[in-house]
Amino acid sequence: MNASLATGRVAIIGGGIIGLAIGWRLAQASVAVDVFERGEAGRGASFAAAGMLAAGVESEPGEAALCALTRRGQALWPDFAAELEAAADVSVGLREEGTIEIALTRDDAARLRHAFDFQRRQGVTLEWLNAAEARAREPHLGAQLAGAVFSPHDHQVDNRRVVIALRKAFLAAGGRLHEGTEVALAVENDRAIGVRRADGTLFAADRVVLAAGAWSGETAGLPAAARPAVRPIKGQMLALRMDPAAPLLRHVLWTPRVYLVPRGDGRLIIGATTEERGFDPALTAGGLLSLLEGAWRAMPAIEDLAIIETWVGFRPGSRDDAPLLGPSAVAGLVLATGHHRNGILLAPLTADLIARNLLEGTIDPAMAPFLPSRFAAAAA
Ligand code: GLY
Repeated sequence: MNASLATGRVAIIGGGIIGLAIGWRLAQASVAVDVFERGEAGRGASFAAAGMLAAGVESEPGEAALCALTRRGQALWPDFAAELEAAADVSVGLREEGTIEIALTRDDAARLRHAFDFQRRQGVTLEWLNAAEARAREPHLGAQLAGAVFSPHDHQVDNRRVVIALRKAFLAAGGRLHEGTEVALAVENDRAIGVRRADGTLFAADRVVLAAGAWSGETAGLPAAARPAVRPIKGQMLALRMDPAAPLLRHVLWTPRVYLVPRGDGRLIIGATTEERGFDPALTAGGLLSLLEGAWRAMPAIEDLAIIETWVGFRPGSRDDAPLLGPSAVAGLVLATGHHRNGILLAPLTADLIARNLLEGTIDPAMAPFLPSRFAAAAA
């Protein structure tokens, strides 16, 4: 990619995985790019996530278009991870054991079969396992097991390491990062002209990208027509400590209620609640109980593990649970937000699609179903 069109200076609002990945791609193409982050880069949903690259098992019946996007995004990850690791000299912990999804009861198995049939129709490679086959792959699964699915391409990455690497790669490529800098969109004559800092000074830019995750809809200065209907969807999570030399789990594991993600360093991440509570940062007894109980039903051996961390994150949810990608109702303002459950998975693809849109003016066919204008059309 090169800056063949007069892209000019780009300002990106939001220094999470999406903003940094877009910024990195633009900086690699010699575009002058500045990322503005209200807090610390990569400490929002990018930090809270579990890092599952689950285009297969996380695709829900009815989400065919989104599944096509997430599968395309998933295919980019191995090369993206290798390129990022080389650029930043930071390992991003890509693990390729795949995912197992289990059913505990006959009802769960019927639901799992329904999702399995849908996912297979989308082209996802999946293998149905009986209880013995599942237990052969994961010996610590509990006694109650009514069936399982193995998804060989649904891997995981250490999202916290990814954002550390992206920050480094972005800066090394010439990008500029402004942390602790809340900005408003600056608009003149119906066109984005840059961003305005809290002290009122204008940072002029030819294009602005809004990639502020769950905070995107709250960004100051956005005209109503361009304000994305993105809301925070709270997730509580926790981590247990396994013995890294004898981990209880090797695959990512989905149970009917929770998922468990084993990291190479022995952390076992358990997530996540899905709550419509705005930006409520509280960890609740009920939230943690449901995570622990859901995980314990699937793998009773977790009961001896130490709890080493608990946290809350906010997914950027849109009205149809799919991202908003591309030009907005305000000239010069491009949206890259609303990734909901798929921000880590879709970061490399979003970065490519948005960078190509900015550099070449192209709307990739993969992006067309996810243009922000789909909601304006629905409202008309
Ligand atoms: N993708 C996992 C979650 O949203 O909890």
